[in-house]
Amino acid sequence: MNNKLTERLQLLADLVLPGKPAADIGTDHGYLGLYLLESGKCPFAVLSDVNEGPLAKAKQNMEESSVDESLYSIRLGGGLATLQPGEAASIVIAGMGGELIASILEEFPEKTASAELLILQPRTRSGELRSWLWSNGYAIKGEYLVRERGRICEVITAARGKQAPGDPDIPETDSPLLAEFLDGRIGSIKRIIEGLEKSGRDSAALKERLNAHEERRLRCGD
Ligand SMILES: C[S@@+](CC[C@H](N)C(=O)[O-])C[C@H]1O[C@@H](n2cnc3c(N)ncnc32)[C@H](O)[C@@H]1O
Repeated sequence: MNNKLTERLQLLADLVLPGKPAADIGTDHGYLGLYLLESGKCPFAVLSDVNEGPLAKAKQNMEESSVDESLYSIRLGGGLATLQPGEAASIVIAGMGGELIASILEEFPEKTASAELLILQPRTRSGELRSWLWSNGYAIKGEYLVRERGRICEVITAARGKQAPGDPDIPETDSPLLAEFLDGRIGSIKRIIEGLEKSGRDSAALKERLNAHEERRLRCGD
């Protein structure tokens, strides 16, 4: 088996429910699905993408592997449009903006709700994704940070359930990367505040956000 997974993709693969079918929405190269099948972690995988180019790469990678074609399905279409309700126990949506992930989850509520576990990796606007989950009957089950090419990425798992909302902007994790992640955030919030103040605009909301990040950072230690 030729494992092409980065640390981020490996974490996503590790979170997928074993022994049950999975779907990778926005599969691109298809490496995640390939790993899940080659390793025997999943009995079946749907590899889906809205664009033909990425899907052609996924198809080629699958065909060049030793995985039997009866174990996977490659599908062209946006979000969960390509999936039947209940078809995948784990739905992975990774490497997209948090708002786009939330809109994909929202488009077909019955399909989203039919998954046992959502494994989500927002590249941006993770706060909006967490808020969407809490407002739409999902509980966050786990939060993870992982480094990929120098950048710290957030990963969120969620399932149906009630949960009192926390701070949507701060990952609830004791990851050793949290301090560095918060330092990065604090730096960028400070730069935005500076810009707002220079142009005489209101920065009160951002200052509150900055305080919340600094308070959480203090609890990380060094
Ligand atoms: C940056 S790549 C991420 C690939 C892979 N999931 C990963 O995390 O490495 C984003 C992929 O999502 C696909 N994509 C973007 N919007 C989508 C949508 N609404 N539905 C399905 N796929 C989408 C793009 O075509 C692209 O292949």
